[in-house]
Amino acid sequence: MLILGIESSCDDSAAAVLETEHPGQAVVRSSVVANQDDIHRAFGGIVPELASRNHVVAIMPIIQRALETAGCQLGDIDAIAVTRGPGLVGSLLVGLMCAKGLAQGLDVPLVGVNHLEGHLLAPLLEPDPPAFPFLALLVSGGHTQLVDVAGLGKYRILGETLDDAAGEAFDKTAKLLGLPYPGGAALARLAEQGRAGHFVFPRPMLDRPGLDFSFSGLKTAALVALRGRVLDDEARADVARAFQEAVVETLAEKCRRALKATGHRRLVVAGGVGANRCLRDRLAGIARDMGAELYFPRSEFCTDNGAMIALAGCMRLRLGERDGLAISARANWELGVSRNEDIPL
Ligand code: KG4
Ligand code: ZN
Repeated sequence: MLILGIESSCDDSAAAVLETEHPGQAVVRSSVVANQDDIHRAFGGIVPELASRNHVVAIMPIIQRALETAGCQLGDIDAIAVTRGPGLVGSLLVGLMCAKGLAQGLDVPLVGVNHLEGHLLAPLLEPDPPAFPFLALLVSGGHTQLVDVAGLGKYRILGETLDDAAGEAFDKTAKLLGLPYPGGAALARLAEQGRAGHFVFPRPMLDRPGLDFSFSGLKTAALVALRGRVLDDEARADVARAFQEAVVETLAEKCRRALKATGHRRLVVAGGVGANRCLRDRLAGIARDMGAELYFPRSEFCTDNGAMIALAGCMRLRLGERDGLAISARANWELGVSRNEDIPL
């Protein structure tokens, strides 16, 4: 069975072809992503209207490239999985309408996928995938959540950010440091040259119980550290390092608490910030201490991609789920809310 996955929830247009010969075995035949970083950089962040307009231009060529790389044609596709939400509604609609048209034209099943579920399941694309149940740390540009995953669709949010998402805090602090949008990965690279102990930032929410996060204060701490100083490259790297350490330590400590509270022995890390090397190393240490296994997707499947959408769609299709052509985009689709539940746009 060949599944075409289509993703357009934010500013990346992505498509992938996933082959599943046997249940539980999925091979990514292709995964193609076109980012719009050059378009949004001038504005220092994503401009929703520009994002949707550029998806319109990019989506069919991206799908075509995914098919070519996979060595197949549209007519070979057996099902279509598409991100239905959450995300920017204009961006979502481009992928969704495209998927509906293809599903109708090819007369194949259509399944709308929750983008966050896609991220959560991305580690299952790796050769040694985690079994259910597991604890998941979902850290992206829009979300920071600790999730108790009992099985497919069985999600309990244990904690989440009260303000900025971890990736958002990375991007905003990167902007303060003069790094081009999106600055998360660039900040991480700069931090590698930073010296320990030159700046110390607070560890938000670690002084109180619970598993929630807060990152907006860290961005302010960086702003205060930078104010009134002429910062040379060395000092900018020191600030980047101090900021990254504060975020990573906060995330890692909450993971340690969540592993202890739930008794889970598997920790899954997903979402764009999951590509952060420092976070991976710190979580590996926590997992070792707690006798748990750590799983994360390869970097290209941490950030937005079509393969994770194809996989989540494939797993949903196996349960007999599918959607009609009347489905709408769900800009605010929380994890764990079923596909049939009514939610406001
Ligand atoms: O999951 P994702 O591609 O998109 C959302 O669904 O939000 O995550 C993108 C976020 C951005 O904020 C980006 O700066 C951040 O992930 N990111 C990183 C790294 N790579 C991407 N943050 C820290 N370190 C990285 N290496
Ligand atoms: Zn994402």
